[in-house]
Amino acid sequence: MSLVDDAARVRLNAHAPYSNFKVGAAIRSVEGNLHLGCNVENVAYPEGTCAEAGAIAAMIATGDRRIAEVAVIADSPSPVPPCGGCRQKLAEFADGDVPVTLATTGGATLRTTVAELLPGAFDAGHMERS
Ligand code: THU
Repeated sequence: MSLVDDAARVRLNAHAPYSNFKVGAAIRSVEGNLHLGCNVENVAYPEGTCAEAGAIAAMIATGDRRIAEVAVIADSPSPVPPCGGCRQKLAEFADGDVPVTLATTGGATLRTTVAELLPGAFDAGHMERS
């Protein structure tokens, strides 16, 4: 099964009664494990969390620390891109060349990378003082 298939499977568990837009995310870690997340909305709308954030939280809770590959899927007319906040979250745990597959439930896919999604990322190097 591909990482997109894994993301599609967890997408079905999303709690998205407000947007009716279910998203699934799957991460394969450098350590070799699969971590899944889906969006979890809340009646207090800003308290909802994205699928990518859920998959990252699952990875960290398991003890893995680095992302090797990501897949995100939604029932969208075109492959759904991670929101700005999730791009920054992915960059925290992934090198720039890490592949990210964006997919639709209809079968369209777009391959990109963490660096393409977040060019000019703020990172720890920017906090170094001379
Ligand atoms: N959403 C994600 O989970 N990931 C994305 O990449 C884009 C947006 C969720 C947040 C919210 O629950 C719903 O999709 C509509 O914005």
